[in-house]
Amino acid sequence: MVTALVTGANRGLGLGFIRQLLLRPQVKTIIGTSRSLPPDDILASLVGSNKGRIRRVILEDISDISSCANLAEQIKDISPNGVNLLINNAGYAHQPDRRPGVRETGLSFPSVAGAKDYETTWRINAFGPLLLTATLLDHGLLTLTRITTNYSTVNSEEEVAIAEVPVVVNISSRQASVGMAAEMFTGDGDPRDDLYFHHIYAASKVALSGVTLHLARTLRDRAIVGAIHPGFIKTEMGRLGADLTTDQSASHVLDVAFSWKTLKDSGQYVDYLGRRLPW
Ligand SMILES: NC(=O)c1ccc[n+]([C@@H]2O[C@H](COP(=O)([O-])OP(=O)(O)OC[C@H]3O[C@@H](n4cnc5c(N)ncnc54)[C@H](OP(=O)(O)O)[C@@H]3O)[C@@H](O)[C@H]2O)c1
Repeated sequence: MVTALVTGANRGLGLGFIRQLLLRPQVKTIIGTSRSLPPDDILASLVGSNKGRIRRVILEDISDISSCANLAEQIKDISPNGVNLLINNAGYAHQPDRRPGVRETGLSFPSVAGAKDYETTWRINAFGPLLLTATLLDHGLLTLTRITTNYSTVNSEEEVAIAEVPVVVNISSRQASVGMAAEMFTGDGDPRDDLYFHHIYAASKVALSGVTLHLARTLRDRAIVGAIHPGFIKTEMGRLGADLTTDQSASHVLDVAFSWKTLKDSGQYVDYLGRRLPW
């Protein structure tokens, strides 16, 4: 049985994950993080109508060491054996001021304001998933389960798969693809606008790719780690012109995550339909 942890579960895609995890019978406990616990938001009402199966916990800031440690303590109370599906979903993209007459400058053009936004965005989108994963590992909350031996005595991949390998899904973006962004400058040197268009956000997701590969490599005997582009989704970040609803995207992403069963599946960067993307 699966215990799933979803960060940024109070709105957007995170809330879609909570609703879609509820539809999967193999998922016993769903833990959703939120930066505060208002009594009357949608996540609170889902907790109320699915007593015991969903738990709402505080993660004030995924990029802060004590916030992550505090989350680990809350998880120990709910699920002492930890989690076997971690969805690093919480993310940030600076939203330009769209009020009529306001013309925001400075962020995309190199500037101190832009550099500060790089720092914030990288901390939340790349350092945050690394820190949270490391915190869960340190607290023994992300481990192989149903196993009576220690790692060194696990002899085959099949044995590891039977032992239930924890899965870490880093929610990435198509914009993380350096391979695709490299096409931006081919030809006459006039950059294509559809690639790497939100530079700061894109660069943070490139950094998340580095984190994903680092985790996949260092955890290769104990966890499956991968990055998934969830599509262009109708959320505050993706806006209404996007292609997918949060539930459609979450359902696809979960299909991909649940198809990852053995350590051989680690180290992938795919889209929500499981199609490989160039790193
Ligand atoms: N929407 C798209 O089209 C799209 C496309 C590709 C990838 N993605 C990725 O999908 C993920 C979810 O995106 P979304 O569209 O659902 O975004 P969203 O609607 O903006 O929601 C972001 C979530 O992250 C939480 N969060 C932000 N900063 C945090 C921090 N420092 N610590 C803890 N939680 C924090 C937010 O909490 P608050 O509610 O408290 O602010 C919220 O729950 C992100 O990783 C995003 O990069 C989205």
